[in-house]
Amino acid sequence: MKNTVLTFKEAKAKGNKLSMLTAYDYSMAKIIDESGVNGILIGDSLGMVIKGEEDTLSVTVDEIIYHTKAVKRGAKNALIVSDMPFLSYHTSIEDAIYNAGRMVKEGGAHGVKLEGGANVLAQVKAIVAAQIPVMGHLGLTPQSVNAFGGFKVQGKSEETAKQLITDAVALEEAGAFAIVLEGIPAKVAELITRAVTIPTIGIGAGKECDGQILVYQDMLGMFDDFVPKFVKQYANVGKTMKEAIGMYIEEVEKGHFPEDKHTFKIDEEQLKKLY
Ligand code: KIV
Repeated sequence: MKNTVLTFKEAKAKGNKLSMLTAYDYSMAKIIDESGVNGILIGDSLGMVIKGEEDTLSVTVDEIIYHTKAVKRGAKNALIVSDMPFLSYHTSIEDAIYNAGRMVKEGGAHGVKLEGGANVLAQVKAIVAAQIPVMGHLGLTPQSVNAFGGFKVQGKSEETAKQLITDAVALEEAGAFAIVLEGIPAKVAELITRAVTIPTIGIGAGKECDGQILVYQDMLGMFDDFVPKFVKQYANVGKTMKEAIGMYIEEVEKGHFPEDKHTFKIDEEQLKKLY
């Protein structure tokens, strides 16, 4: 089933949960899409899981577009959302519209995601006015890592929790079609989810959100630099890959690979002429 922003809207209205995963390349996007997720995010988490950086801040618009193009070729049914990297929407409304537009026009994204609440409402309104669906992102927004003094759970006090609820309502009023809630107490996420009519997509925000999102390397056990509390590893693909690669190395060293069936032949007559 082809997923659109209407699928997301209807899911909330009907009380159906939405599933999203990140993807950054064609092969993984194809596997994830064929598994039936509702949405794929080309997240700026690629700064960490693809580039090996400590945070997401170095990611560029061109990198997101490059990866969005690859994902788009592999994903036929999921709603494709591209992350707007740090500084791609902070400098001016024009920059925000232009960069969001590039993600759609060049990358093939169906929508964009950007981090923040009250501070980015003007950008959200302007991008929505340009007919580009916007997903909000509140809570432990990784682009604020330096301002937060680390990757720290947000919304733990009355004041900050109230601010998150106010921001979520404001994002809906600004035209966002969904909001990612990251790294906040489950009870606060539940209150936000009740306060808005657009779906909330949680990551480290408990089960009362309207949907969930995870970074695929985390949930498949392929990234173990650190495993956040909110990650469930559904498989240990990293271990399986290491075992397979180990077998390959051993077979190469012992001369057991390649076998006859992996080898191309030349006609005997042609071969004789080479000697
Ligand atoms: O960059 C990303 O992958 C994200 C998700 C974890 C929500 O923002």
